[in-house]
Amino acid sequence: MTTAVTPEVLTDPELHAHGDPHEVWRWMRRHAPVHRHPATALPAFWSMTRYDDVRAVYRDPETFSSRHGVLLRPVDRGVDPGGGLTLALSDPPRHKQLRAVVADWFSTRAVRDLEETTLQAVRDVLDRLPADGTCEFAHDVAGRLSMYLIGGIIGVPRHDHERLFRWTNEAFAAGVSLAAHQDLMRYFIDLMGRRTAEPTDDLVSALLGGTIDGELLTEEEILLNCENIIGATENGGLAVAGGMLALVQHPDEWRRLAEDPEALPGAVEEILRWTSSATHSMRTATRDCEVAGQTIAAGDRVVLWVPSANRDEDVFPEPYRFDVGRSPNRHLALGSGEHFCLGATLARSQMRLLLKELLERTARIELCGPVHRISSIAVSGPESLPLRLVPR
Ligand code: HEM
Repeated sequence: MTTAVTPEVLTDPELHAHGDPHEVWRWMRRHAPVHRHPATALPAFWSMTRYDDVRAVYRDPETFSSRHGVLLRPVDRGVDPGGGLTLALSDPPRHKQLRAVVADWFSTRAVRDLEETTLQAVRDVLDRLPADGTCEFAHDVAGRLSMYLIGGIIGVPRHDHERLFRWTNEAFAAGVSLAAHQDLMRYFIDLMGRRTAEPTDDLVSALLGGTIDGELLTEEEILLNCENIIGATENGGLAVAGGMLALVQHPDEWRRLAEDPEALPGAVEEILRWTSSATHSMRTATRDCEVAGQTIAAGDRVVLWVPSANRDEDVFPEPYRFDVGRSPNRHLALGSGEHFCLGATLARSQMRLLLKELLERTARIELCGPVHRISSIAVSGPESLPLRLVPR
């Protein structure tokens, strides 16, 4: 094998912040689509980079389990505490039962009913910006909007949304899990106490009343699932910020949208494909099997590189072109199969309504400082995006 590129660099977060992982993935799709990485601080794993292989693994939860973790994790950090307990880290049949407890809150209908609230949250967030429209878009707009929306669904009162946003930012900045953030956990335990005494129409109340095999969920399961859902919204913010950056870098595509707002739903799909903000998903093989001629043994970890699948030239014509009119666009940015993103409809609606409002309010959007991409192998996108949203 000619190693023009070393696949091992993929586990270096700095490559994702400052380098070009797409160059590595393009080479791997062609020369080593199912590649074995030796153990380092991370355990050994197989990389999958082609669309068909990534999709097939996502859609076979019997062979590829989520129970032992869905993200690469240094060996010295031990097993993921959510294993077998959270939605993302459960296998069928338990997964289906747990998903049924929360699914109603994220259905197409629920999100459509939330449209007015979402639009109000978009306006609240934009109204907080200074009159000249200068902002740190990733934090001030994209991150804040994601947190306000999920806060409302979970049952956090509106006057506490900013507090929730600050705590989750602190946790992410310190690189700790949300569960390790004392104030946040105390807040949720208190919220659960209030909802136990007086259930209402929110996700925490639904989790408190939810059962699996006739048993109520434990307090730990409820807390871990809230953490899972809040943590997953980071993706929403990164995709929105990444989409905005793409539109600033492709002003013709922004003009296309300004002239034809009907094109917005298609643009949202292209932003999801282009940004692929969930960089990888991991699975653990439950039996020996073969993928693209490579033998994978029971117990082996398999890593699906989503941005690579979404640039696969066998599926997407001109995959490196950002085209808001792309059709068909069967990207895998939100996963596929059993674990297909729970927040998919919400994420799409949030992005569409924000873009619609920005197209109406702004004369143009300018980059006004350096962009910094997040240093991570789990999520990708701009963590800092200084923009000026020049008002009409
Ligand atoms: C554009 C933004 C988003 C992207 C790119 C994204 C991506 C993904 C992907 C790739 C998966 C599959 C993971 C796997 O199979 O291992 C997933 C699952 C999930 N996502 Fe999202 N997500 C986004 C927004 C959200 C939001 C806003 C929420 C909030 C509710 C959310 C909650 C979840 C949950 C709970 C799961 C696990 C579902 C299950 O295991 O059944 N996501 N997401």
